[in-house]
Amino acid sequence: MTAKIIDGKQIAEQVISKVEERVKLLKGQGITPGLTVILVGDDPASQTYVASKERTSQRLGMKSEVIIKPVTISEKELLTLIHQLNEDTTVDGVLLQLPLPKHIDENNVLQAILPEKDVDGFHPVNVGKLMLNQEGFVPCTPYGIIQLLDYSSISIEGKHAVIVGRSNIVGKPMGQLLLNRHATVTYTHSRTQNLEKFTKQADLLIVATGQPQMITKNHIKPGATVIDVGIHRNSDGRLSGDVDFASASEVAGFITPVPGGVGPMTIAMLMENTCLSAERKLS
Ligand code: GUN
Repeated sequence: MTAKIIDGKQIAEQVISKVEERVKLLKGQGITPGLTVILVGDDPASQTYVASKERTSQRLGMKSEVIIKPVTISEKELLTLIHQLNEDTTVDGVLLQLPLPKHIDENNVLQAILPEKDVDGFHPVNVGKLMLNQEGFVPCTPYGIIQLLDYSSISIEGKHAVIVGRSNIVGKPMGQLLLNRHATVTYTHSRTQNLEKFTKQADLLIVATGQPQMITKNHIKPGATVIDVGIHRNSDGRLSGDVDFASASEVAGFITPVPGGVGPMTIAMLMENTCLSAERKLS
């Protein structure tokens, strides 16, 4: 079997087109959705992600702002900035790009962002709402993966979803979202013994480990859907994921490529969350 490729770039464009319409409607009512991204330091990968977020929000006609702070910024200064943005009524979404320098307590600053402006869905209030299946903000990457499945007409209800990786940004919220959609969910991680035993049972295999090409055809049940969240630059300069794409494609039913799979969806869902935040001002 050769897997069908899930085209994240194309699906992200569809999501973005819908957001664009919603932005136009909001502007007609005198509201311009505003996204502010804070970047601390000069990590090249973070700079690339932030630039992409800025480009897309500008393209959609949002008020887009990137605030760059030196790596030496104190936690107190960062908290002051977040408080200012919380007060600013033209800002609907505040995103603090991770990772942060080690001297800053990540949890402390993420919790300072108002839950109503937390378009990343990282605030404990939004994490709790996801657990309770209540409306809040859902983290963009797992939210984007749900969209990839829905747009590809891949059903979730009753399916066995196996998550590889338990990060707060992807693995944990991913499992909860799939559970809310009535999947049976298994979490696996770096200390899981006999990983293959679990991954081979997956109808939906979501891989977010940060380990290049660690999942091969030996981990995959024939016909399964494989979603690859990883992105790595190889020594030859090419990008690849946590899944060995060539090998996995031989057995999977559906697979996301890297690049052009999950990545574009993360940005699309950030746009959607920012738009949603602005819309909530009206209700
Ligand atoms: N760094 C890597 N992924 C993310 C993300 O989704 N949000 C933020 N804020 N930082 C990140």
